[in-house]
Parts: sequence; C-alpha cells; structure tokens
Amino acid sequence: MGQPHDESADLEFTDFIEKLAFLIDHSANDAERVMGAEDLVKELIRGACSWLTPDKRQPSDEHYARHSLYRDPQDRFELLALVWKPGQCTSLHDHDGTWGVEAVLEGQIEVTNYFIVEEHADQTVRLAHTGAFTIGRLSTGRILPPADCHILKAHGDETAITLHVYGKQLRKFKVFEQSEDSDLYVVRDYYVDYVSPQ
Ligand SMILES: [Fe+2]
Repeated sequence: MGQPHDESADLEFTDFIEKLAFLIDHSANDAERVMGAEDLVKELIRGACSWLTPDKRQPSDEHYARHSLYRDPQDRFELLALVWKPGQCTSLHDHDGTWGVEAVLEGQIEVTNYFIVEEHADQTVRLAHTGAFTIGRLSTGRILPPADCHILKAHGDETAITLHVYGKQLRKFKVFEQSEDSDLYVVRDYYVDYVSPQ
C-alpha cells in the first residue's frame, strides 16, 4: 500500500484474535461468548485502528462493501469490516443462527431492530419492530438469536466503517421482505459476496 508496515498494529490484531479464540473455547454458551467478545472489541477499537489497512477501508458504489479481515481456520468465528457510503443499507436480515458483535469505527449507523414472533411453514415470518436508534464511533452492539434481525444504514454525509465478529463464517443469511400484511415478511436466503475475501 506504499505505507510503512505497522508492526504494533499487527501485534494488536493478532493479540485480539488469540484472546477471542481463547474466550470462545472457554465460554459455557453463546451468551457468555457474545458478552466477552463485545468487551474484546471495545478494547480493540479504542485506539487508532491502524490494523484496518487502506485496502479494507474501500467503499463500493453499488452496495456497502464487505471486507473479510480474518477467518478462523476452525470456523469458530470470522471478522469483517463493512464500509458504507452515505445512505447505503442492508436488507432486513438475520445472522443464520449465530451470535455476533458489531461496532462502529467511523461515521454513524442507524440500527432498526426486529424480533421473530412466529415462523410459518410457507417461508413467511411475523416480525415485531423492537426499536430504532443511531450509533456513532466506539458504539457496539450484540446479536444473539432470536434477537438477531435488523437493518443497518449509514447515517449522515460521511462514509461509515463497522467491524463485525460472527460466531462462524456467515456465508448466507435470511432476508425478510415485507408483504402487504405489514408485520408478515417473506423469507429468502441471501448468499454473501466479499469485496476482499479471506
Ligand atoms: Fe447484521
């Protein structure tokens, strides 16, 4: 990238990965994992975040950009950076049954949360809207099924960058499309496309 190699940033990142792997192995359940992972993420993002190299900060014109930062060889977790131009957003989606931690590194993100109230055999679900808020740098949030459905959207005029830890490689997830009955949603599978694959 034409910039000096930042060894301390590499060490900070490697240390985070090692602590996260240890935490996952030594936690009793996903509720413990997600709490511990959120603490580690808070610690990681406190500084300048120079472990996030310029190539992983690149946005995309078509859609928010998804950069893989690390994928655990044992598939215990993955780490992603998403880069959002103003107004770019996700569909309403879940996280394929896994836990997760999401953190804002730059800019602001609007979060709109939903909860699955009923699942039906015909690929529809009834969702309840459970809140909407805007979060900024250093804010973090947890995802733990069944409270794992949301929409994320870049808020304001700046590009936003978010960090995501998931409890496995999230290759696919469900998206929910609103039907004419306002809280009934049609479910379809979505397969992930990485800008920077790991
Ligand atoms: Fe999400």
